[in-house]
Formats: sequence, structure tokens, C-alpha cells
Amino acid sequence: MRRALVVGNWKMNGTRDSIQALLRGLVPAVSHGINGVDIVVCPPFPYLALVAETIKGCEIVLGAQNVSCEEKGAFTGEISPGMLVDCRARYVILGHSERRQQMAETDELIARKFVAAQQAGLIPILCVGETLAQRDNGSAQATVAAQVSAVLTLAGVTALERAVIAYEPVWAIGTGKSATAQQAQQMHAGIRELIAGHDAEVAGAIQLLYGGSVSSANAAELFEQADIDGGLVGGASLDASAFIEICNSVS
Ligand code: PGA
Repeated sequence: MRRALVVGNWKMNGTRDSIQALLRGLVPAVSHGINGVDIVVCPPFPYLALVAETIKGCEIVLGAQNVSCEEKGAFTGEISPGMLVDCRARYVILGHSERRQQMAETDELIARKFVAAQQAGLIPILCVGETLAQRDNGSAQATVAAQVSAVLTLAGVTALERAVIAYEPVWAIGTGKSATAQQAQQMHAGIRELIAGHDAEVAGAIQLLYGGSVSSANAAELFEQADIDGGLVGGASLDASAFIEICNSVS
């Protein structure tokens, strides 16, 4: 039986004040958990310590939005996996489409980050997803399969025992236009089938999240699908009551 997981991706948003206000809304509501759902928030790096301190003793877990594949040394501006662990992060989002597109992150680099993150003890949340052009030209499945396969090739299928995959169609991110529950379920089933081709047990156990305009209005229908185990939530995770409602939508 897979546990449900809802992850808030705060992206490059927030100030000390706004984050404290957001947590004042979240912490009391989540202090004893919600429906047995695992809840993770991923603030920008400078606020990791503040959030770690504020969520102490509460059922919210800390994550980060990116990490270097290097351990330490002369990499100005980079953050190592060990540093994230030291700041009490347990999860890290990898390969978000904004990083693939704006920072030119390749499947190979993301796979290296995945391995480095796991070696430090972090749980990677590997983001995959097709663009609108790729969906329109019929290559959505192949695109996502290639993104997952890059990690399978470098890390091996058993590495997915300690990882999460988030399917986020690029055209649905921040657009208010979520994939339909059927479109999302179809891609999730395809990802699980791809992994099952390597190891059926790992495929059955891995948490697959949907991301892309998840809101309190569409979460319940998405989360009801057989292969959707929760969500990676951007915009709506900046609003405490919307995020709590999304967590409550897990059946
Ligand atoms: P969104 O972002 O919920 O604002 O669409 C999701 C994400 O980018 O992870």
C-alpha cells in the first residue's frame, strides 16, 4: 500500500515575513498530520533553516528545490547534498522543467544529481514531463520515458526504492490548465509500466505524483486515480488554506 504524498514547491517566492505567516497557517493544521498523508515543503535555500526550526515537532517534512551533483569544493554558488542534509532537508526536487528549460539541465546532469542526492541520504523527487509541442506531435510518452530511463541507466532500478517521481506536463505548470485526471493517470500508468519492465516490486511501491496547476478544485479527482499517489503543488502551496485543502483531498 503506497502512502500519499503532497509536496509544496514554493519556487523563488517568499520573504522571512511571508514564510512565517504561511507556516503560522500550516503548522497548527498539520501538527498531528492530515489523513496519514506525507507532507513536504520546499522553500528557497536561504529559508531552509528558518523553516526547519519552525516545523520542528510537526508532521511537515523539509525539502529543497535543487542540489549540486558535487560534494564540495570550488563550485561558487552551488549547494551540496550534504549541506541540505545538514540543514535537515530530507527531500530534494530534481529536474523541474523550469530548470531543464531555463538552466539547460540535461537528463544526464539530472541523473548525476539524483545519484549524489541519494548518496547523501536525500530522497529525490524526480520531475518529468512533456512540452505542449511534444504532446501535440505524439511524443509525450517517449519524452517522459527517456527522462525516467536516464536515471534508471545511471542509478539502476533499485535506486527508485528511495525516490519519488513527479509527472508535470510543462503546459500545465503555472497555467491554471491542469492535465485531466485521465491524461495524468494514463501517463502515470505508463511510468509504472516502464519501471515494472525492470522490477515489478519497485514499480508497485514508488510514489508517483502529479504536478501542474493542482488546486483545491481538481486535487480530489486527480488523487483518486489508481496510479496517482499525490501531488507536487506550486502556486497553491503558497496559500495555507488551499494547500491544506489539497492535502485533505487525498482519499
Ligand atoms: P503549479 O506548479 O502548481 O503552480 O502549476 C507546479 C510545479 O511547478 O511544481
